[in-house]
Amino acid sequence: MIAADVTAKHIVITGGASGIGAETARLLASRGAKVSIGDRNIELGQQVARELTELGYSAQFTVVDVTDVDSVNEFYRQAVNHFGDMHVALNNAGVDHNPARMLDVPDEEFHRNIAVNLTGVWYCMKQALHYMTQSGGGHIINLASIAGTSGAPMISAYGAAKHGVIGLTKSVAIEYARSNIRVNAVCPSFVKTPMVEHVMSGLNDKQKASLINANPMKRLGEPHEIAGAIAWLCSDESSFMTGHSVVLDGGLTA
Ligand code: NAI
Repeated sequence: MIAADVTAKHIVITGGASGIGAETARLLASRGAKVSIGDRNIELGQQVARELTELGYSAQFTVVDVTDVDSVNEFYRQAVNHFGDMHVALNNAGVDHNPARMLDVPDEEFHRNIAVNLTGVWYCMKQALHYMTQSGGGHIINLASIAGTSGAPMISAYGAAKHGVIGLTKSVAIEYARSNIRVNAVCPSFVKTPMVEHVMSGLNDKQKASLINANPMKRLGEPHEIAGAIAWLCSDESSFMTGHSVVLDGGLTA
């Protein structure tokens, strides 16, 4: 199979220090993309960028907190300054949710989820649109979740934020379809990343087994399986797709 071509595309990734973001940065860089990584975790972000540049790939890291509009604006300014016009903005930074029913969820948990998982995407989309309308087009890819396509008990704030991301994806896709700017979402189920390891660490063996066995494939997703789909989205092969949510869940919501 021929790999999706992302050669020389400048791809800006938030949350690129860990998990799905880091794996996607590795795959895209190895296929010739220029990768601007942003994350609030400076040490891990620098580590991923260094790993890629030492392999001879084009990558750079800038610290960003997606909940802070000034920090987001500066991150995009530096990315465009470094590698030139941005072709893809991958809005991937996110936080998890401590499992609980709504009455037991502190309001701070709701505000934290909305701030990172929804407002953060809003700020990043605005910056991406700002640069893409000037440069003649681009593709915004938002990391949502199957918790954004169907009800997900015990993580109500996370689900609310991810449903919001899909709403933003659809509305903005329609608004900018004539401007050569596409907007799509990616919706994984549980994928083996530090985020899910953290969630699993709060479960007993029986709960872990039932979480895994709920999936028709009887396993969690692997980060490279999400990265592969994102690479295809980043390529021109997905050119007629906009306003869509790509579900990668081993059949869980089939
Ligand atoms: P992860 O925890 O491995 O990576 C998330 C990254 O986002 C971390 O590097 C973290 O430092 C960064 N981040 C968090 N808050 C930030 C902020 N305010 N500003 C800048 N960076 C920030 O998580 P994972 O699993 O790779 O998740 C990536 C995305 O995929 C998230 O949006 C998540 O909600 C989504 N997702 C993950 C699933 C999974 O099972 N792992 C399933 C469905 C969606």
